[in-house]
Amino acid sequence: MLDIRAMIGPRVESLQEYAPEPLPVLAQRLGRSVDELIKLDANENPYGPTDYTLERLRAFDQYHRYPDAQSRELRQAIGAYADVDPNSVLVGNGSDELIDLVLKVFRPEPRSTWLEVINCPPTFGMYAFYAATNDLRLLEIPRKPDFSLDLEWIGAACADGTPRLLFVTSPNNPDGRPLPDEALQTLLALPLVVILDEAYIEFGGASRAAWVAEHDNLIVLRTFSKWAGLAGLRVGYGIFSQPLMDALTRLKSPYNVNIVAQEAALATLASLDEARVNVARLVSERERLYQELQGLPFVQPVPSSANYVLVRSSVPVERLRDVMERHGIILRYFAGTALQNHVRISAGTPAQTDALLTALRELA
Ligand SMILES: Cc1ncc(COP(=O)(O)O)c(C=O)c1O
Repeated sequence: MLDIRAMIGPRVESLQEYAPEPLPVLAQRLGRSVDELIKLDANENPYGPTDYTLERLRAFDQYHRYPDAQSRELRQAIGAYADVDPNSVLVGNGSDELIDLVLKVFRPEPRSTWLEVINCPPTFGMYAFYAATNDLRLLEIPRKPDFSLDLEWIGAACADGTPRLLFVTSPNNPDGRPLPDEALQTLLALPLVVILDEAYIEFGGASRAAWVAEHDNLIVLRTFSKWAGLAGLRVGYGIFSQPLMDALTRLKSPYNVNIVAQEAALATLASLDEARVNVARLVSERERLYQELQGLPFVQPVPSSANYVLVRSSVPVERLRDVMERHGIILRYFAGTALQNHVRISAGTPAQTDALLTALRELA
């Protein structure tokens, strides 16, 4: 008999599965239907794809074909949208896949030394997850209490001149703070490959995608999940310098972006005005949410440039969660972390914000 567990070994056994509660299970636990839930935990776009995208998807009839492995048409369209050379664009199965792929490029070769990945928590959890699955050592340099990067500490960690990778998110998840130009310039002058994750850039701030042409050591990652309402279809992309494009093109799975996802992303880029209306609605709802939260004495919202607001709660978060779940409202909690007395609330529709505020006022 084969001992399959022994064959798999402790390296994989020690990884933590990432498995958020699926919606139907959540709905059942809360005794509601899926449609009744007010889901403000994952920074999704409640308006979904544009009407034009839905129309194109309804008319789509090429399911039996393999997709273009190089997503040529989509890369052209992304190049025009992001104002970058399409040859510097790689499309992925969500930007998650690209985080993984970038780390795969740098995972240790036999006999090589460990390559360190600098992560600046609190931030998006997938950087640490994929660093672990790719055998890369993580150096955690926490953000300051105002969520800005600790540039002095990062500089000190790089003082030995050893090349490292660094993840930085702008606006950052979970607080929504943008990274200033000067901070990015400081990072790019260090011996670092800087992976700048702009998953939420459409909700506030200017993209640095065009900076990649000037900086070989900069990678910019973006996604259609948030602003374009395509989270379920999984389309992300990155802008890379030539050496990285060559490596990633060799490493990626041939059909990593399915044919429907490519069609939907293309249709979104062909109906940008419509998509931008939904983005503007979410930005205005984020601002209203922030203002309203400021008026509640038991929560302190953090200013945000993304489609969510991080909130510090002076009532116990367990109580807050209890009240929210009784109203069918799902938020993002941070049990067991430095943010355990915080919640993150995604910007939703005006009706969702109203329901949230009504429920919150019960805590007064
Ligand atoms: C900062 C950040 N980057 C990337 C992602 C993942 O995006 P995608 O759906 O394109 O994999 C998320 C999703 O929550 C995110 O918050």
